[in-house]
This record gives sequence, structure tokens and C-alpha cells, in this order.
Amino acid sequence: MKPLVVNTAKGLAIRIRGFVLPDIRRVMEIEEESALDGDSALYLELYEEWRGGFLVVENDDRVVGFVVLVLTPEGEGRIFSLAVDSRYRAGGIGRTLLKVAFNTLRKNKIGFVRLEVRVTNQVAQRLYRSLGFLEVGFVPYYYKDGEGAVLMRKVL
Ligand SMILES: CC(C)(COP(=O)(O)OP(=O)(O)OC[C@H]1O[C@@H](n2cnc3c(N)ncnc32)[C@H](O)[C@@H]1OP(=O)(O)O)[C@@H](O)C(=O)NCCC(=O)NCCS
Repeated sequence: MKPLVVNTAKGLAIRIRGFVLPDIRRVMEIEEESALDGDSALYLELYEEWRGGFLVVENDDRVVGFVVLVLTPEGEGRIFSLAVDSRYRAGGIGRTLLKVAFNTLRKNKIGFVRLEVRVTNQVAQRLYRSLGFLEVGFVPYYYKDGEGAVLMRKVL
């Protein structure tokens, strides 16, 4: 995508652009501190599968967040991963990034988006609900540490 310079609703100046390979170090730092389950090989594989689905957010030329979208065999979008550097949270980055991700999916004629989120991750669940996601299921032991996932889905 063409880089997008915006202010979040909370007044933070950010730039959203497509992932490039040198971003992987920052992406993995943010993903590790966020206790997500991915590894760099998987992220790079998903990037190769759909380059347009991997977006990063910069503040002052530093990568401070990212979202990875994948397309499911059923033709739906899936948010594989979303995280914001802990020092930049609650500044509106996650909400802004998700809206840009929805537009990316819409441009690809995708009508639904789904995701899995930890049962205990109330912050993310609140964010997703406020953006129109509905709870559609539960997957026990979804994460490596044994925690279950809430399945959520949204019409785009
Ligand atoms: C979930 C996450 C991406 C949100 O990013 P963010 O940039 O902090 O989110 P925003 O500032 O856009 O806030 C969006 C909403 O999240 C909720 N929220 C954010 N920070 C919060 C906090 N500290 N306490 C409670 N709710 C909070 C609020 O509902 C907020 O809504 P508002 O815009 O009406 O205030 C971020 O917290 C994160 O990286 N968490 C760790 C990784 C993760 O959980 N990823 C999702 C996996 S499914």
C-alpha cells in the first residue's frame, strides 16, 4: 500500500506502510513483549504469501506496531496478528491500524474478517467489539501455554 500519514483519534502522528524485510527485528521485539505465539519464520512466510497484508506503523521513523492479515481458504480475511509496542499503547494506534486493515481487505473484495483472541485479553476484546466484531465461538487450548481463544467475526 501507499504509505499513509495520519493522526490517531488520540492525537498521535503515525505513518502506516507495507512491511519490508528489515522491519522483522522490530516486529519480533514487539511480538515477543506482547506474548504472541509467532516466530520470525512464520511471519516471513505469511509476508511471502500476501505482501499487501502485512502493515507496520511508524512513529518518528520507528516501527511501533504491526498487523498481519491472511486470507482463509473460505475467502475470508483473518487477523493473524496485531500488536503495538507497550510504550505506545492506548494512543489510538491499534484502532487506526485495524481500520486501515479493514480497508485493505475491502479493496480485495473480502466480505468478512475473523480472528482469535485470548480469553483473558479484555483490552483487545473490547477494542474488537467496539469495531463491530461479534463473538462466534471458543477454541480450548488454542495457545501454546494452554489458554483458550475467543473467535470473533465481523462483516466488512
Ligand atoms: C490490543 C492492542 C493492539 C491495542 O492497541 P492500542 O494502540 O493500545 O489500542 P488503542 O489505543 O487504539 O485503543 C483501542 C481500545 O483498546 C482499549 N484499551 C486500550 N488500552 C487500554 C487500557 N490500557 N486499558 C483498557 N482498555 C484499553 C480501549 O477499549 C480502547 O478504546 P478507545 O479507543 O475507545 O479508548 C495493544 O494493547 C497490544 O498490542 N496488546 C498486546 C498484543 C495483543 O493483545 N494483540 C491482540 C491479539 S488478538
